Formats: sequence, structure tokens, C-alpha cells
Amino acid sequence: MEARALILAAGLGTRMKSDRPKVAHEMLGKPLVRWVVDAAHEAGCEQVHVVIGSGKELVEPLLDDCTISYQLDMFGTGHTVMCAREALEGFTGCTVVLCGDSPLIRPQTIADLVQAHQEAGAAATVLTMDLDDPSGYGRIIRDESGNVCGIVEEKDCDDAQRSCTECNSGVYCFDTPMLLEHLDELGRDNAQGEYYLTDIIGLLVEAGQKVAAYVVADDSECLGINSRLQLAEATKVAQRRINEAWMAEGVTMLDPEQVWIGPDCQLGRDTEILPQTILSGATSIGSDCVLGPNTRLTDCTVGDACTLEETVGISAVLEDEVTCGPRAYLRPEAHIGHGAHIGTHVEIKKTTIGANTKVPHLSYLGDTTVGEDSNIGAGTITCNYDGFIKNPTVIGDRAFIGSDSIIVAPVHIGNDTFTGAASCISKDVPDGALALERSEQQTLEGWTLNKKKEMEQKEDKDEGE
Ligand code: UD1
Ligand code: CA
Repeated sequence: MEARALILAAGLGTRMKSDRPKVAHEMLGKPLVRWVVDAAHEAGCEQVHVVIGSGKELVEPLLDDCTISYQLDMFGTGHTVMCAREALEGFTGCTVVLCGDSPLIRPQTIADLVQAHQEAGAAATVLTMDLDDPSGYGRIIRDESGNVCGIVEEKDCDDAQRSCTECNSGVYCFDTPMLLEHLDELGRDNAQGEYYLTDIIGLLVEAGQKVAAYVVADDSECLGINSRLQLAEATKVAQRRINEAWMAEGVTMLDPEQVWIGPDCQLGRDTEILPQTILSGATSIGSDCVLGPNTRLTDCTVGDACTLEETVGISAVLEDEVTCGPRAYLRPEAHIGHGAHIGTHVEIKKTTIGANTKVPHLSYLGDTTVGEDSNIGAGTITCNYDGFIKNPTVIGDRAFIGSDSIIVAPVHIGNDTFTGAASCISKDVPDGALALERSEQQTLEGWTLNKKKEMEQKEDKDEGE
């Protein structure tokens, strides 16, 4: 497909009432403009060019695989395309214009639009939609024979035009030289005083060029986001679309309304997702897992047959058959080995846990490496931070760390070791050793009974006075 994409993403997004530019707002953990860029790439567009303006320092870092132009004054969508003129010049293929605030467009729809455009041999093809409530959208004007002859913005419509329900989606496919040839003919003599890209359609028809329309099958694809309410509505559409696709692939959901999966996540079959689970970024889950309830994973890799209940994970890697939670917190660079168990109220940061090792209760392990088949007792804390730098802890295979151990890093605890409960371990423990750091217990026999007697006698005496 000899096509390029041109994404209009410079607008202010005033109705979002935000300090962030609209296209940088996220839907299911992914910025709006990224949804559109990825759809264009997936559709086979050989280059994706984005025009940005408002809040460009926040939008630009999202577009590392795109070429960029800038629109610094907002004079309308026609002006946006003018700002990309240099990038379009010399290209003889077609240019698909997309809106950075319409993230639900499907790659297949873009590809179908380009195909329809090429088959029709048109100078421009408009993606249109038939809406029960067309308010806010530009209307498609057709002549007696049904050919598209123009687009009129709602604010410029007469009553007859306003009653038309066929709307402009804001997505078009243009023959690039033809688009550029007529771009400078756009004027600003309209209700909003803007250069309307939509006026190109009428100009092409006047010049005797063929303009076609391609009606989108599912008009939710063209939902534009102008407000927080529309963002929530679009999120619902995306959520439903993604969850239905995963259920069709063999994923079980107790209640799909309460599961949010980002567009770039992967899931294996026979995995079950329980309510209030949010997966985002490049999270990948194997098969036969149970996730949730209340589990949130961002950029995590989870193997097969894992159970994660009430677990928060960020950039963590879990091998097969790991169990986590309830209430586990896996922070970046946590690597949990095959069959390991991370229990309740346990936080793991930049730490590797070996196969079949258990950290069952109330622990913090940071900057640590633990070998295989070890048991980390309840309440074990690694003191990895001395107030200046982070220090490493190494614990070997088959180590038994007693409950309430405090491990002051840097320290190395060898294989087949024991540490006594409540010990503060600050010196290396060689292989096979027991380390015990605990002051001797004092037991004073009869002390409590004597004390009680003494108190009773004192009370009797006080009452007698
Ligand atoms: C536009 C169309 C309308 C269509 C609707 C579909 C025009 C004149 N109207 O209206 O026919 O039904 O989309 O959603 O094109 N933008 C810029 N710079 C600007 C203005 C806009 O980059 O100066 C970008 C916006 O960021 C947005 C897109 O262009 O991504 C559409 O702009 P918007 O103002 O939302 O146009 P609509 O009024 O919705
Ligand atoms: Ca819009």
C-alpha cells in the first residue's frame, strides 16, 4: 500500500480543562495519539507524520517512530495540513488524514478506506458515518445522483443541511499531489473564521475531480474525544472491544465490565481474570493463570499457571507457577523464579527470587538476590539503603531466614544457612552456618505473682486510710 498517514494533533483540547494537551491523555494506559499512530502503522502506512502544537514538549516524546511538523497558531484543520506541506511535497502516493483525538479507528478500516479510494480512482475519499445524533459533526452533502459534492460544518449549515445524518468522520484518503494543489485555495470565510480542511472536498469537485465516500461499518470507531465524558465513553468502547477479543481467544472473565486491559497486552488461553484487574503497557500473561481480584500490572511479564491475587506489579518478571498475594507489591526489576511464592504484605524491589523460594509474610527485599528453595521468614527486612547508597544482599540456596530478621546490606548469606529469629545480620554468613544475633533472655521466676500481691496490699492499705 503506497500510503502515508498524516495525523492532526495540534489542537488545544480546551474542553478537557487540563494542563496536559488532549492527545497526551491516556485511554487504557496509552496516550490517545499513540492509538492513532499505531493503527496507521498496523494498517500498513509506510510513514506516519504528525502535526503537533499545543503542549508539544509533552507530545513529542510519544512520537519517536513518526516524523513531525509544528502548528503554533490554531487556524483550523486546513491550516494544520498546510503546516505539513513540506513533508507531503514530492510524495505521489495517497495520504490518509486522521485525527489525533479519535483513538478508536481500526487498522482494518484505514486499509479498507485506502483500498476503496484506489479502486474508485478518486482524488479524495471521505470516511463517513450515519449517526442518529449528528450534532457537532460536519455534514456530507451529496448531489441528486448521490455523489459527494461537499462537507458543511454544523455551524455553517442551513436547516436542510443540518437535518442530514451522514457525517464527516474527520478521516480522509487524499491523492497527495491533488491535496497540495488545492490546499492554498482554502479560505477563512466561515462561521469559525478557520481554514477548514473539509472545504477541500468542494474545491476538488469544482475542479472536476472525483470525490468518493466510504461509509464506516462501526461508527464508534470515529468517536472524537473533546471532553472527559467522551474520554470515559471511548474508554468503555475500547474496553469492551479488547475484552471481547480476549474472551474469543479463550480468556475467562467473571465480569468483563470490571477488567481493563491495555491494547498492547498479551494473554494466554485458559487464563482467568477476576474483577478490578488492570493490565497496562506491554504486559504479557501466560496461559492458565488466575489474576485478581484487585490486581494491577504495568509492563510485567508473567509466565504460565501463575496466581496473582491483590498484586501490584510494575516492570516485574514472573516465571511459571508463581503465586503472589494477597497484597504483594512487585516493583521494577523484581524477577520471581519458577514456582516461587510471594505472600501477603510483601514488597520486592530490584530483587531476584530463585525457584521455589518462599517469601510468605510481611517482608521487604530490595537489591537482593535469593537462591533456590530458600525460606524467608515473616517480617524479614533487608536494610538496603544506608541513607547514601543502595547496598546489595545475597542469600544462597536452601537458606532459612528466621522470622523478623533484619539484614543490613551489604551482606552475603551462604547456601544451607540458618539465621535465628529476630537476628540483626550485618556480617557475612558462610555456607552451612547458623547465625544468631540475639541478646540472652532473662527469666525472673515468680516476678508477676509477687508484683500482683504487692499491688493488692498497697490498695488495701490505701482504702483503710
Ligand atoms: C472536524 C471536522 C468535522 C468532522 C469532525 C469529526 C473540520 C473543519 N471539521 O471537526 O467535519 O465531523 O472533525 O470529528 O475539519 N486540529 C489541529 N489544529 C487546528 C484545529 C484542529 O491540529 O487548528 C486537530 C485537533 O487536534 C483534532 C482534529 O484536528 O485532532 C480535529 O479538530 P477539531 O477541532 O476537534 O475538529 P471538529 O470541530 O471536531
Ligand atoms: Ca474533534
